[in-house]
Amino acid sequence: MGSLFLKRPTLSSAVWVLSLFLSSSCFTSSEAHTGSGNITIKWDLISWTPDGYVAVVSIYNFQKNRPIRRPGWKLSWTWAKKEVIWSMMGARAVNQGDCSRFKGNIPHSCTKNPTVVDLRPGTPFNQQIANCCRGGVLEPGTASSFQLSVGNGGTTEKTVQRPTRFIFTAPGQKYICGQTRNVKPTIFVSPDKRRMTRALLTWNITCLFHKATRMMLETF
Ligand SMILES: *[C@@H]1O[C@H](CO)[C@@H](O)[C@H](O)[C@H]1NC(C)=O
Ligand SMILES: *[C@@H]1O[C@H](CO)[C@@H](O)[C@H](O)[C@H]1NC(C)=O
Repeated sequence: MGSLFLKRPTLSSAVWVLSLFLSSSCFTSSEAHTGSGNITIKWDLISWTPDGYVAVVSIYNFQKNRPIRRPGWKLSWTWAKKEVIWSMMGARAVNQGDCSRFKGNIPHSCTKNPTVVDLRPGTPFNQQIANCCRGGVLEPGTASSFQLSVGNGGTTEKTVQRPTRFIFTAPGQKYICGQTRNVKPTIFVSPDKRRMTRALLTWNITCLFHKATRMMLETF
């Protein structure tokens, strides 16, 4: 083994290493744009409230071969105006931010850039919604959801503003997310399939795998 290596002229082994590098980087870039799928984040606005709306946010792992493992995904975005999160189910914002302008009812989060993480399995039922609470684990082909009540937001289709600059991260994985787009409103079918309801508005954000990152500095 060692003698075989010594017999190689230096130049050819350099070329060999270079071509290995090139082929792996070609693979990575083509994989990022086509074959391996995407993460789609979908916001369904399900009701208007006196000062905003209630939305169910679902994160779909449409990647065939890339599971998201513990300690799980994190999702951040930037609010368009001075929106706050009154309450959340199925996930939580990691930082509350400055809620000092509120008296009495204090929002769950007042920061302009909330970062949200999943809750653990075994979360009390009154904090759960369907498909939540997997500790941030997202196997290929599965989805996780959480619900949030947004205040200081628009209260009609005309005045509501889309959150932007989404950042989705997972342990050891970096993604790049696109724009928040208005898409056809989701149709929900009741469990007994006898009633269909429609989201008021639906927004999609698609994130593509960008590169592997070091996991050492990940914290929860
Ligand atoms: C994301 O992946 C799904 C499933 O493969 C696909 O239907 C959808 O078109 C993709 N979205 C984008 C924006 O590429
Ligand atoms: C929006 O996302 C949902 C869930 O991933 C998907 O089913 C739907 O096709 C997407 N819509 C568009 C227009 O990409």
